[in-house]
Amino acid sequence: RMKAYVANLMSKMTLDEKIGQLNLVTPGWGVPTGSVVSKGVEDNIRKGRVGGLFGIFGPDKIRQAQTLAVKESRLHIPLIFGLDVIHGHKTIFPIPLGLSCSWDTALIERTARIAAIEATADGLCWVYSPMVDIARDPRWGRIAEGSGEDPYLGSKIARAMIKGYQGTDLSKDNTVMACVKHFALYGAAEAGRDYNTTDMSRIRMFNEYLPPYKAAVDAGVGSVMSSFNEIDGIPATGNHWLLTDLLRNQWGFKGFVVSDYTSVNEMMAHGMGDLATVSTLALKAGLDMDMVGEGFLTTLQNSLKAGAVTQQQINAACQRVLEAKYKLGLFDDPYRYINESKPEKDILTAQNRQAARETAARSMVLLKNEHQVLPLKKSGTIALIGPLADNHAEMLGTWAVSGDKTKSVSIQEGIKNVAGNGVQVLSAKGANITDDTAFAKRISPFDKPTEIDPRTPEIMIQEAVEVAGKADVVVAVVGEAAEMSGESSSRTSLDLPGSQRKLIEALVKTGKPLVVVLLNGRPLTISWLDEQAPAILEAWFAGTEAGNAIADVLFGNYNPAGKLTTSFPRNVGQIPIYYNHKNTGRPYEGGNPKFKSDYLDVDNSPLYPFGYGLSYTNFTYDTIQLSQSTIRPGQQITASILIKNTGNVAGEETVQLYIRDLAGSVTRPVKELKGFQKITLNAGEMKKVQFTITENDLKFYNSALKYVSEPGDFKLFIGTNSRDVKEASFRLVK
Ligand code: IFM
Repeated sequence: RMKAYVANLMSKMTLDEKIGQLNLVTPGWGVPTGSVVSKGVEDNIRKGRVGGLFGIFGPDKIRQAQTLAVKESRLHIPLIFGLDVIHGHKTIFPIPLGLSCSWDTALIERTARIAAIEATADGLCWVYSPMVDIARDPRWGRIAEGSGEDPYLGSKIARAMIKGYQGTDLSKDNTVMACVKHFALYGAAEAGRDYNTTDMSRIRMFNEYLPPYKAAVDAGVGSVMSSFNEIDGIPATGNHWLLTDLLRNQWGFKGFVVSDYTSVNEMMAHGMGDLATVSTLALKAGLDMDMVGEGFLTTLQNSLKAGAVTQQQINAACQRVLEAKYKLGLFDDPYRYINESKPEKDILTAQNRQAARETAARSMVLLKNEHQVLPLKKSGTIALIGPLADNHAEMLGTWAVSGDKTKSVSIQEGIKNVAGNGVQVLSAKGANITDDTAFAKRISPFDKPTEIDPRTPEIMIQEAVEVAGKADVVVAVVGEAAEMSGESSSRTSLDLPGSQRKLIEALVKTGKPLVVVLLNGRPLTISWLDEQAPAILEAWFAGTEAGNAIADVLFGNYNPAGKLTTSFPRNVGQIPIYYNHKNTGRPYEGGNPKFKSDYLDVDNSPLYPFGYGLSYTNFTYDTIQLSQSTIRPGQQITASILIKNTGNVAGEETVQLYIRDLAGSVTRPVKELKGFQKITLNAGEMKKVQFTITENDLKFYNSALKYVSEPGDFKLFIGTNSRDVKEASFRLVK
């Protein structure tokens, strides 16, 4: 039915109207997510020269635009409405990097479901999420928006989010079309500098970077966004191998591809030719919708006349965009997602906020807890110090374009809510996020710059030290401003800004028990902090309910169980650093390090490895039991292990399974995540955890890019993180 409907509609469309469907605009009356804003939007809608609109939300604005399209354009074709709903719409969940640290796909799916309900209540039907770019370089600010460094976990999370957004029926009025991005390899920008060149072998792409995008396609994602970077010397937006050979022909993707913001035009700066040339290149590569740049709108007619593109290529793109609208039910009812009574009922509800609070607590990672400083007692005096402690502006993190900062819970408020009157809270700001005004402006060029207190750093620190002196315990909340990570927020230093480091050093000197709560969108280099502070909680940017969730963890209402999905380097010189690296011919395994693959000045290992995270209790792992020591195709091996909670409180543990292929036709990583299970154990309780391994878990892309398994010996590891594991061996026989 869909094909016939769209074919019939297209038979009535002029060339101009078809090209119009490929045009995605963002009007001045919305939220800017790039530096260009579309002009003449209303007029173009009337003329049938706009296919979709993004950057606006709310039933009133969306109704107004849809009415123009449906009532005033010749063929009454409805618009599709998109937005960057990345970690929630109005109820903001933790940044995706934080979410991934929950290792809880059901929880993550629920966040996407809630985001879809809120987004549709605001008239939207298309979200630019999930962002599944694998990132191994925390200098790259957009590491905050993805699920970290691992393709296996990243693929599971991609699937969960798409299920949450799209449900099983895209035409329902509370599901949205997802858009997996940024296709592809955007997270591998050289030197961690945003938009920079990527260059990698196909074998690395297929084994390490492409799996999450493929998982999204397999999960039925409705749309794909091309990335800004080049691949093999051709920008992704104009890369035929990527958008057609791989995505459509090999992976069977049936939806439509949208460019990133002006990424068609940016191919001119990449050095691919003038606007007509790059627009032609993009269309022929398989791009369907041009975001903001209007290269398609302004050049394709002439390119067709000149024979540079074919009518069939324009038709194919137009058909895919119209099919998306059909799937969303917009031809049945263009106003399907517009219901003025919904925002009040569905947005920022008590249940949604509760879900955000639970999710945020589950995303936090306890990095250190010496002498059981945590959990805090709900009595005595707490000195709550730091520029992020009594703060609403920075709680939501990056890419919360529709989030309302004023609705967020500060940490000061959260502590009061959770600890009640038994606790006396004394506060001091202690430091600015940064003292560098130019840097503060650079962070948020479109927004109010991060506030800088006019007092001198010395006076602020002195006040903080005095406050600390009156307390039983100090809680210091430090880190980045929200916009220090995210798009176009690459950093060459991953240190805490100097103002805050000085504050922490002064607080350490007071000798008071010190808990450091970190708010940041990427791994920071905090070896010095790890040496000096007895307790460190990585809270990321935790969203609308940040303060309550952080307090839930600090006071032990929730026992933290998050595990890192990105390695924390000891210093930036170690970057890129990731657990699933290759062994090299000269691995450093102790002994005399000369002529080994290592550094003279720092260990190879990260400060905190992938999969790492503590709890208020302890878990011990017994030895691994394998059901058999060989496996053949069609068979399976069971690996089981007993895990015991040896502490005094109940806790959750994410049990991780890794595999190493000891010899292959191509070199294989030292470890690869192949499974994980989250279990809850009461104090003293023991549980057996079982994993099944099949031949499929042993497959990889070989040098001919065939997905194969190869007979031979394997190691299997089970552990609490990628470093601390128990080990067993088995053999694949074919
Ligand atoms: O979705 C985003 C993308 O992640 C970065 N550039 C702008 C797009 C639309 O806002």
